[in-house]
Amino acid sequence: MLDKLEEQSPDALLALIKLFNADDRDDKIDLGVGVYRTKDGDTPVFDAIKGAERRLVETQDSKSYLGPEGDMRFVGGLIPHVFADAEPADGRMDGMQTPGGTGAVRLALALAKQAGVTRVLMGTPSWPNHAQILADLDLELVGFDHANADGSANMDALRNALSSADGHAAVLLHGCCHNPTGVDYTHAEWDEIAALLADGAVLPIIDIAYQGLGDGMDEDAYGLRTVTNAVDELLVAYSCDKNFGLYRDRVGAFYVITGSEAATKRAISNAAALARANWSMPPDHGGAAVRVILEDAALTQQWLDEVADMRSRIRRVRARLAEAGTAGSVDLAPLGRQKGMFAMLPVSKDQVQQLREDHGVYMAGSGRINVAGLTMQNIDTFTDALAKVTG
Ligand code: LMR
Repeated sequence: MLDKLEEQSPDALLALIKLFNADDRDDKIDLGVGVYRTKDGDTPVFDAIKGAERRLVETQDSKSYLGPEGDMRFVGGLIPHVFADAEPADGRMDGMQTPGGTGAVRLALALAKQAGVTRVLMGTPSWPNHAQILADLDLELVGFDHANADGSANMDALRNALSSADGHAAVLLHGCCHNPTGVDYTHAEWDEIAALLADGAVLPIIDIAYQGLGDGMDEDAYGLRTVTNAVDELLVAYSCDKNFGLYRDRVGAFYVITGSEAATKRAISNAAALARANWSMPPDHGGAAVRVILEDAALTQQWLDEVADMRSRIRRVRARLAEAGTAGSVDLAPLGRQKGMFAMLPVSKDQVQQLREDHGVYMAGSGRINVAGLTMQNIDTFTDALAKVTG
């Protein structure tokens, strides 16, 4: 039976990690998978996480099973940072811990499907795994252009997608730091989106995986909070992988909001059953470390300061790229207006390959770069290579 399986190509983004590691050039530059890097190109464990882990070692007295919902103090501890005053009252919201943001997206889409959703509207390009999860769940992807050529969000495309959606549709939106374009909705655009979603005709799903890496913790949650205030029903996929630097520990959360406490109870019971069938319960360690941070004021401040440092560095790199103006045929100015770790460069697959093979610059085949992979030491090497390849 198993010999009938067809070969699948490895995930293109994750495959870049191995390709990069196998390259022995000293001046190679990794702009591939989305991990934050310091000014020296490292991805260290946060000091706040180290502090929390030390405390865990001293105080954790059991690693016995929890339940499919994971560590509910972790799930609750995030709420003031994610939802703040928009937290729905009256038991309309509940949540659970998930294996990373991917687990949360998977759970949100699987639950939406269980509730009758058959198609999902999504701005493209998007994080490639969104489409892979949709395909795996047999949900139809209805794509619309996320961004305009001038680097603004394409609101017309979103408006048309929402107004022409027929029954049983959901819309998957990026909460902030759009992956891969870096093109976020402005606050005024979120106000309009929230108003468009208020009638409940289309189920909103917000994937927020980079809170704090754009304009600030509150600023980056503006869209999520505005939509939360406007709608009866919402699914949220949250990732701590980037803003706590916990990538391989897989730390995420899923929140469901419905029109009533009873409906939320039913929804979360379905989510728990889906989690049990998929991964039984989420890995504990990273979520426990986050919980320790969120329950301690000093560790929380240390964590927020570390996120602020990451944000400032990303913004400095973006500003520096924008200052460079152009590199060959690539206009870098829009990168100064975009948010978060990612930007799309208008380069062909051949040019991406040339950058990798001839210059040791690694980026996704789509032309996405992780701007956090650039440092003041390698930024000129990068723009020179880009100029040579596209000029
Ligand atoms: C990325 O887009 O690079 C990250 O979200 C990592 C991943 O899992 O794809």
